[in-house]
Amino acid sequence: MKLIGGKLDEDEGLQEHGFFYYPVRPTSFVVSDALDPDFPLIYVNSVFEAATGYRADEVLGRNCRFLQFRDPHAQRRHPLVDPMVVFEIRRCLEDGIEFQGELLNFRKDGTPLVNVLKLVPIHGDDGSMTHIIGIQLFSEANIDLNSVSYPVFKQQCYHRSSHHDVNATTYEESSKSDDSDFCGILQLSDEVLAHNILSRLTPRDVASMASVCTRMCELTKNEHLRKMVCQNAWGREVTVKLELSIKLSGWGRLARELTTLEAATWRKMTVAGRVEPSRCNFSACAVGNRLVLFGGEGINMQPMDDTFVLNLEAANPEWRRVKVSASPPGRWGHTLSWLNGSWLVVFGGCGQRGLLNDVFVLDLDAQQPTWREITGEGPPLPRSWHSSCTVDGSKLVVSGGCTDAGVLLSDTFLLDLTKEKPAWREIPSSWSPPSRLGHTMSVYGRTKILMFGGLAKSGSLRLRSCDAYTMDLDEDDPEWRQVATSGFPSIGPPPRLDHVAVSLPCGRIIIFGGSIAGLHSPSQLFLLDPAEEKPGWRILSVPGQPPKFAWGHSTCVVGGTRVLVLGGRTGEEWNLNELHELRLAS
Ligand SMILES: Cc1cc2nc3c(=O)[nH]c(=O)nc-3n(C[C@H](O)[C@H](O)[C@H](O)COP(=O)(O)O)c2cc1C
Repeated sequence: MKLIGGKLDEDEGLQEHGFFYYPVRPTSFVVSDALDPDFPLIYVNSVFEAATGYRADEVLGRNCRFLQFRDPHAQRRHPLVDPMVVFEIRRCLEDGIEFQGELLNFRKDGTPLVNVLKLVPIHGDDGSMTHIIGIQLFSEANIDLNSVSYPVFKQQCYHRSSHHDVNATTYEESSKSDDSDFCGILQLSDEVLAHNILSRLTPRDVASMASVCTRMCELTKNEHLRKMVCQNAWGREVTVKLELSIKLSGWGRLARELTTLEAATWRKMTVAGRVEPSRCNFSACAVGNRLVLFGGEGINMQPMDDTFVLNLEAANPEWRRVKVSASPPGRWGHTLSWLNGSWLVVFGGCGQRGLLNDVFVLDLDAQQPTWREITGEGPPLPRSWHSSCTVDGSKLVVSGGCTDAGVLLSDTFLLDLTKEKPAWREIPSSWSPPSRLGHTMSVYGRTKILMFGGLAKSGSLRLRSCDAYTMDLDEDDPEWRQVATSGFPSIGPPPRLDHVAVSLPCGRIIIFGGSIAGLHSPSQLFLLDPAEEKPGWRILSVPGQPPKFAWGHSTCVVGGTRVLVLGGRTGEEWNLNELHELRLAS
């Protein structure tokens, strides 16, 4: 195929070459960098922009799969996008061969489009694939997305191509037309059909199907299918993170190990460098494969303002102090959270002159990392020992904590950091959990938060809590709801504060450590799946060398399968430079 001045050679006219043909109208085309693992777009022409509604600056640097998502904020491809065509694209890209086929795409405004797509690999002198050209022929797809169900797209697509009708027959038209006993789906091979069905299931269901018979077991061994199943259950963001961990094990094994946690082990990690001077009450979080620590309470209650990084991808990981050109005021009892990409956000805590309610962000990958203050309108009261998390990669949620006057708080605030001028918004819930400090908030299912434990107000007293509450920020009017756990209450984690909570890729949450009343061991791990209809706590026994008896640890999940635990203190001792890893997959 010849490309002339950004358009396909029109002299060729409308010829069919099997499934693909040379069009007479201006054609959309894009170019991707094939040396990057996720094929980011490096060029899109103006026909692509006009046809899809996406401007070049919105899509360059991204993989073109966003066209399979119904709106720019959707987290997964639309269910009517044929997974087998997507498998086929992946296979061709992996093998470095041409692809041509047809699939459902969406304009930026959500309008469905039929895309007759051709992908052509370009090879360098040494034979390696350097670029891929994508040529798209978009046409209207007049389907009512609310009334059709999977696999209507495939069925219609077969129907149409069997008539070689390349002139974009609408779906309504083709579904009304002749051949009433023609059923496209029955023309699929058993294998394709089985893969189509299996790719809609959860990892647990696919594992059960695999145990039915040898043939089913064979069918479930397809790596693309396995990835699809993981992506259905855990979302795209999580599978992208996990991609790093699957090289040795494969998706099937990873799905099993993360579901059963059979391979989980504790180990002590030794890394070079130290976080100095010594401190407690700092805050840490993971940024991709890096562990970042900010601030803390030094000797003589000195509020610290330094930032340290431990790169776990390095051959010999070492704690390094980040050279920043400006720092937030020193503090402890604050929170540090990871935003999209390489950004961090610090909120609140206790500084030299009392409690704070300021927000600072830092891009860890900037050439000269600089903490920048974000002055959001209507901030929450200054506080420390609150809890925070980030939802959707960009919204900071803060709840509870303690004011200067020692009053415990029960409010929940949200700051959308994607906005040009971020403004704080209190989430008005008709009912709120009792006010508290030292609790945890973990995100699961992309937009849902689980609050657990802390020192909570109970009548005129303050008692350690073991209650769990959830809120879904995707709801029109988000509400806090107490989680009514099933099973014996004695199996659940004993009341505690200053503990840690870890969100696993599959949406379950592990509670660990903290200051616990009585003789209970803080090293015991408790597991909850808040998405279950009747969630029940499970105790997780993990072999290996767990962290010492202590409270006030910090935990972060690195690469989706490595839970790192650092710091913590016993009555007399700060274990600042002790690092343990709970490895979830082998
Ligand atoms: C150059 C290029 C252009 C592409 N154009 C499209 C497109 O127009 N529509 C689409 O749905 N997918 C397109 N793709 C395919 C997706 O980007 C992606 O490779 C596919 O969804 C399979 O990968 P996934 O399973 O990780 O999503 C294109 C890929 C490349 C490399």
